[in-house]
Amino acid sequence: MHFRFSFEHNCDTITIITFGKEVNCGFSQLPMGKIIAIANQKGGVGKTTTAVNLSAAVGMKNKKVLLVDMDPQGNTSSGVGIDRRNLKNTSYELVIGAASAQEAIVHTEFSGLDVIPCGINLAGAEIELISIENRLSTLKNALATVRGAYDFILIDCPPSLGLITTNALCASDTILIPIQCEFYALEGLSQLMNTVRIIKRQYNPHLEIEGVLLTMYDGRLNLTQQVVHEVKKYFPKKVYSTVIPRTVRLSEAPGFGCPIFYFDRSSKGAAAYSALADEFLKANR
Ligand SMILES: Nc1ncnc2c1ncn2[C@@H]1O[C@H](COP(=O)(O)OP(=O)(O)O)[C@@H](O)[C@H]1O
Ligand SMILES: [Mg+2]
Repeated sequence: MHFRFSFEHNCDTITIITFGKEVNCGFSQLPMGKIIAIANQKGGVGKTTTAVNLSAAVGMKNKKVLLVDMDPQGNTSSGVGIDRRNLKNTSYELVIGAASAQEAIVHTEFSGLDVIPCGINLAGAEIELISIENRLSTLKNALATVRGAYDFILIDCPPSLGLITTNALCASDTILIPIQCEFYALEGLSQLMNTVRIIKRQYNPHLEIEGVLLTMYDGRLNLTQQVVHEVKKYFPKKVYSTVIPRTVRLSEAPGFGCPIFYFDRSSKGAAAYSALADEFLKANR
């Protein structure tokens, strides 16, 4: 029997050739991309740095990635060189249901990477969402129409457990938790895990932990070793073996509006995020 199956895939169409017949599908019929929320209600733990650099690293490894900036501070958007002032549609319009995901997508010059930037009005969404029906599924519904066009969709969350983070967790398959190697590293984690449990029980039963990432690692410090030990005890088998070192180049790159690979390709930070992308992709094969 003659049987041939292959598919060609670009941004908005897919051609499936089966039994010699071609079938063209739209976005919604495409295979589903995995949605990952990068969350921890503590600020300054490396969420945005991880969102930008992991997305870019995975994009460079021939995957199609959509990075969604859900933090009103907009550091992810500026970290990939987007000027937020004159944007028509952003993650704000998306989350309040005023625009489709396709209308808000910005293509970047970085390999494999598209972005939904955050508008300056996203801060108000926490309040506006209260009166919106289906307030916890707006992002999920919006991303459903484009997820087929991507291998991965990464959502950078704000440093809180408010409605924006909850909305992102309801839209996600998994949560990736960056933890800074510092004295109060585990503070608030029980609250975060409690939120994950509630969301899993009531809204999104499929939500799982993607992985836990140790950031700003300094192996010379005893404190760092203690934190690593504690975090591994708290999240058995979930902690990435790749750790992100504390390095000034990672904090300089956002000022140039680009991920670390396009700023200093040979830096320790670039090597670490590339290794993380390998570990991430291996787990998602
Ligand atoms: N591995 C690192 N080494 C040095 N500085 C880092 C590192 N990761 C993040 N930073 C810096 O720390 C600050 C907080 O990081 P950020 O990613 O914005 O955290 P969050 O999004 O969790 O608030 C930023 O100024 C960032 O540039
Ligand atoms: Mg941030």
